[in-house]
Amino acid sequence: MGKISACIFDLDGVVVDTAKYHYIAWKSLANELGFDFTEEDNERLKGVSRMRSLDILLEIGGVELDEQTKLELADKKNKNYVEYILKMTPDEILPGVKDFFNELKAKEIKIALGSASKNAMTILNQLELTDYFDAVVDGTHVSNAKPDPEVFLKGAELLGVSPSECVVFEDAEAGVEAAINGNMNCVGIGSPDVLGKANIVVPGFVGFSMTQLNF
Ligand code: G6P
Ligand code: MG
Repeated sequence: MGKISACIFDLDGVVVDTAKYHYIAWKSLANELGFDFTEEDNERLKGVSRMRSLDILLEIGGVELDEQTKLELADKKNKNYVEYILKMTPDEILPGVKDFFNELKAKEIKIALGSASKNAMTILNQLELTDYFDAVVDGTHVSNAKPDPEVFLKGAELLGVSPSECVVFEDAEAGVEAAINGNMNCVGIGSPDVLGKANIVVPGFVGFSMTQLNF
């Protein structure tokens, strides 16, 4: 591995577990539309944009709707979801994440966010993590969803570092692919069965250190 100047973090599933709140909000929408939505179904929405998530949900329920109705439903789901995230506290930061951020700060390695979420700033504020980030790229800044590397390449550009000096931390397969497509190193957070294309896969940040990154 060459020099590492920056770490770029996905948010949902890496820094915090928002999947449970997305699940409650999507399930409530599905139930209103007259069908069920399981936790297993919810797995398919990880790392997927809001509108694409709605399409998958409607496909599961066998429901077809026009674009205008879909926009209204996505907005309704988001309002419900935001009610949950506004109650989040720093206690919900996933174990080991803050220690790792502090290690990066001590080593003068830059920190960026690369998330598909349009709620990323709200979540970082709730978690009181905003000050750790040298750059934030979220769903409001990009037009191409992962596995397109746009979100991570924009992060590298904002930090002024080349992609090969970046390590991306991702919990979704499409996110790992986005890192690879952007010529970046990648640490998968989760199971090697899903994230096997990453340079290494770890279950989480507890005990994780930059010293483990000898790809
Ligand atoms: C992340 C999550 C997805 C979510 C997407 C958009 O990638 O893993 O489950 O659909 O962000 O989030 P948003 O907060 O904009 O609806
Ligand atoms: Mg994620």
